[in-house]
Amino acid sequence: MNHFELQGGELHCEDVSLAQIAAAVGTPVYVYSSATLERHFTVLREALVGVGLKDPLIAFAVKANPNLAVLRTLGRLGAGADTVSEGEIRRALAAGIPAERIVFSGVGKTEDEIAFALEAGVAEINVESEPELLLIDQVGRRLGRRAEVAFRVNPDVEAGGHAKIATGKAENKFGVSFQEAARLYANASNMAGVRPVGVACHIGSQITDLAPMRAAFLKMRGLVEQLRAEGLSVERLDLGGGLGVPYFNQPEPPAPAQYAAMIAEVTAGLDIQLAFEPGRMIAANAGVLVARALHVHERPEGRRFLVLDAAMNDLLRPAMYDAYHDIRPVTPRDGAPGPYDVVGPVCETGDTFTRDRALAPVEAGDLVAFMTAGAYGASMASEYNSRPLVPEVLVRGDEFAVVRPRPSYDEMLARELAAPWLGD
Ligand code: LLP
Repeated sequence: MNHFELQGGELHCEDVSLAQIAAAVGTPVYVYSSATLERHFTVLREALVGVGLKDPLIAFAVKANPNLAVLRTLGRLGAGADTVSEGEIRRALAAGIPAERIVFSGVGKTEDEIAFALEAGVAEINVESEPELLLIDQVGRRLGRRAEVAFRVNPDVEAGGHAKIATGKAENKFGVSFQEAARLYANASNMAGVRPVGVACHIGSQITDLAPMRAAFLKMRGLVEQLRAEGLSVERLDLGGGLGVPYFNQPEPPAPAQYAAMIAEVTAGLDIQLAFEPGRMIAANAGVLVARALHVHERPEGRRFLVLDAAMNDLLRPAMYDAYHDIRPVTPRDGAPGPYDVVGPVCETGDTFTRDRALAPVEAGDLVAFMTAGAYGASMASEYNSRPLVPEVLVRGDEFAVVRPRPSYDEMLARELAAPWLGD
């Protein structure tokens, strides 16, 4: 469920009309609903607690939506943060998320990033390879700390979904194998700069079938039992994120309650602290991208292009993953739906959001909303074609606030410096 509904013939975010936001902030613009963010977080937590899991850490995957106001909204409810760079750790801390709820993952952490994470006191660093373990140990010893580490294990399961976002097969770059995990865990327990506390996995994103998750989690349970049988202490099990969301006419994902029931079944009797790293299921349906129609270009040969002022640099998912986003008129017009190729102004054929999409009539000047754009939308935006970074707005009830303004052209240009030999 989300909070983007028609009220008085106009699409609203909670009690604010998207047309009002577009008039105040301009387009394109991302708009997020606090109520939806809060609801998704709470539904997941209640589902997990409801099946008897005690005090799970729900570390929001910052990469899905790193906006500070979004992080603060979730942090106030008790969310932690799953981070993959020093920048993300800094964002989580700046949003008031305590270090003891921050997990640091990622296959290529630099020495400086590891040192920063240790000094900040993050809860756990997820180790993805043996060289990285040695580096963390070295940094830990240098700083006189024992880094609490969890081994990210690649469970080698097929998660379904788009190949570019599958992470849990042996051919993917993520994590160590089960064989390595057992050896490294034992080695790490004798290192002065690290303290192994657990194991972690994440098999992919936009997963709509619980079976591959269950298969991976059962393997993780087996690993915990094996390590414990070897006399090693395993206190934490991080089961990653990846639960899919409905992108309209796409396969329906399992409900949080079904997910929680599966977790309870797989971890029964294990007596372990569980952590989760959901991104998309919390943020995707909490955000939309609002764009304005610049032209409707009808070729006499038959194709009809709806040219928007939003482009692939603002919402990359369709170009990158052939992703489907529902497109809704902000003020629907009467009339029979007809096919449109919805495109942006960027000079690439890939700047096509969809082809032959049946939409109710749209005219130049109309506003449309790309739904389910709150995760991996603004976070993947760029300034390609020198289009200023898309702004972000957060709504709460009948109020809204610009939480990332659109940079002016002067601000955009002022970031760059002339080389001394080029003159003014
Ligand atoms: N934990 C780890 C270690 C991850 O790599 C990811 C996502 C997550 C958690 C969060 O997964 P989620 O719950 O959001 O599925 N840009 C792509 C998605 C990339 C996901 C990368 N890792 C997209 O737009 O679909």
